[in-house]
Amino acid sequence: MNTPSTALPGGTWTLGDLTVSRFGYGAMQLAGPGIMGPPADHDGALAVLREAVQQGITHIDTAGAYGPRVTNRLIREALHPYPDALHIVTKVGAVRDEQGGWPPARRPDDLCRAVEENLEDLGLDALDVVNLRLGNALGPLPGSLAEPFEALVALQERGLIRHLGVSNATADQVDEARSIAPIVCVQNLYNLAHRQDDDLIDDLAAHDIAYVPFFPLGGFSPLQSTALSAVADRLDTTPMSVALAWLLQRSPNILLIPGTSSVAHLRENVAGAGLVLPEDALAELDKISS
Ligand SMILES: NC(=O)c1ccc[n+]([C@@H]2O[C@H](COP(=O)([O-])OP(=O)(O)OC[C@H]3O[C@@H](n4cnc5c(N)ncnc54)[C@H](OP(=O)(O)O)[C@@H]3O)[C@@H](O)[C@H]2O)c1
Repeated sequence: MNTPSTALPGGTWTLGDLTVSRFGYGAMQLAGPGIMGPPADHDGALAVLREAVQQGITHIDTAGAYGPRVTNRLIREALHPYPDALHIVTKVGAVRDEQGGWPPARRPDDLCRAVEENLEDLGLDALDVVNLRLGNALGPLPGSLAEPFEALVALQERGLIRHLGVSNATADQVDEARSIAPIVCVQNLYNLAHRQDDDLIDDLAAHDIAYVPFFPLGGFSPLQSTALSAVADRLDTTPMSVALAWLLQRSPNILLIPGTSSVAHLRENVAGAGLVLPEDALAELDKISS
């Protein structure tokens, strides 16, 4: 089912019936400072999106809350009409307040409005994948997701959503979602230094469900570790390349969505993620996580 049919590192993965490159692109960093407002370099943002597709990336991650409504409109401006192979994954469940916070918005009405806005801003009749974003900016919080998730299932039944996922979720919430309707992906914080989801990743892999780590490069605090730098130096590459290659090697169900607002960084990341990490490097990198 998941065969490498792309030139990009990692090959492809199938989200439901949608084949995507395992090397994807996360669009959050294209909005303005604090993920609010327009980018300082509008044309530069469009160039990054076009370069992603040019590189063969067929998975772009976004959300109506980025900007808000900024990255979705940039994606549409840069790439619409979309290539058939391109799949855009979005998130609902949080909005933005005037201070740049991310308050939850998970009542059925909120979710319906969010899906309609995503459709409008992206210029689509149906959204390929919608993740229900749970928890808060500090991380997942326990509690039932039944009401908001069932609201998304209802929108899926209306034909507005093809596939569902969850984000910022606990393992119990993932199980609860799966008991209500099939999910194709889980998007949580995970990288070389934050490996709290190791068991979840293996469980999802056994069920052919993708795990999509957000902050694969550390997000707003770039990954820094002596071991990471040492491995990168020894292999004559960058810490970013090692971090991405490690994720691709960690499990076949991991999909990458590194963010960047730079064409040069995008190219560097695509080139670097193909690195094959030898066993001794993997053992050294395993020690980074606390
Ligand atoms: N579900 C959720 O709650 C949630 C939360 C956060 C993020 N996300 C998703 O996850 C995606 C990835 O997260 P992220 O973009 O915040 O974090 P990230 O991918 O871990 O890191 C992005 C940062 O790394 C820098 N960077 C990228 N490539 C680089 C390179 N080759 N050299 C030096 N610096 C480099 C970028 O700066 P430059 O712009 O200068 O390259 C940017 O500051 C987002 O785009 C978003 O779609 C989801």
